[in-house]
Amino acid sequence: MMMQPSLPGQDMTLPVVVRSMTLLARDTLAVEFTPQDGVTLPPFDAGAHVDLLLPNGIRRSYSLCNAPGDTGRYVVGVKKADPSRGASSYIHDTLRVGQAMKISAPKNNFPLDESAAKSVLIAGGIGITPMMSMIDRMEATGADWTLYYSCRTRADAAFLDRLDLLDKARCVNLNFDGEPGGAMLNLAEIIGAEQGDGVHFYACGPAPMLDAFEAATAGLPEGHAHLERFGGEPLPVSDDALETFEVECMQSGLNLTITPETTILDALLDNGIDIPFSCMDGVCGSCRVGVVEGTPDHRDMVLSDGELAENKVMMVCCSGSRSPKLVLDI
Ligand code: FES
Repeated sequence: MMMQPSLPGQDMTLPVVVRSMTLLARDTLAVEFTPQDGVTLPPFDAGAHVDLLLPNGIRRSYSLCNAPGDTGRYVVGVKKADPSRGASSYIHDTLRVGQAMKISAPKNNFPLDESAAKSVLIAGGIGITPMMSMIDRMEATGADWTLYYSCRTRADAAFLDRLDLLDKARCVNLNFDGEPGGAMLNLAEIIGAEQGDGVHFYACGPAPMLDAFEAATAGLPEGHAHLERFGGEPLPVSDDALETFEVECMQSGLNLTITPETTILDALLDNGIDIPFSCMDGVCGSCRVGVVEGTPDHRDMVLSDGELAENKVMMVCCSGSRSPKLVLDI
């Protein structure tokens, strides 16, 4: 396998070419990447994502939506955000077939538990993308699954052609809450009806849907509810968050001043501290760092309520500080 060097703290990056771009639904594109000459794309598991290192300098994570085992290409689904923070608008308006660029190797924060007696997939909007690779995998292994897929309207729903090929009556439930007579999915009702021994639930979609999913699955056995958040919404900054503060790196002895112009992560990378990162949005959990002293201003969507209260870890890509100094275990 030939691959190119990576950014600090990252997995190796892969040189690829945009092979095709296909309209999947309103404002939603499938982008297919194939390797540049001499490169082999690593295999991936259902639920995996890759980071696109876009030519405009922005790095964003997107779930793979082609089948695991579909070697030689990666396909992601990209919904044009409104407003876009620069990634989806670039992909829709500027990126074109034939563009050479780099992507990360696949990573998986949303793996399928193949020991499940049944898997219930709940997708909202573009949250369908990781579910498609899961469905392909479960169709290949003969696993039992059901999909609940909700969009505003049919015109917003991607992959209907692929889902049409499946036995809809058995396993595909479509919901269009913005159409006449439509309503939001009732997740408590779905989970109540589907739950049983060995049933696992998966959800990916907008934050309100995932909040409802977390509430509805709170009573399930540990490890039976899985969710993946995608970023895009600005996270609230606390009233007492400081614009400028100090960061002391306990292991290296480095002291940094964080100003409104930079994030803690950027300052660490600029000063040679090798730290993993991916989404830069507070959703993937890659940049988790231990907090030895001080009070972070958490702005991520990864930490549990307990972790937020303890202040022992933080996501340095997006979070700030409520105390003049943070001492970090790096
Ligand atoms: S890089 Fe993803 S949470 Fe920080």
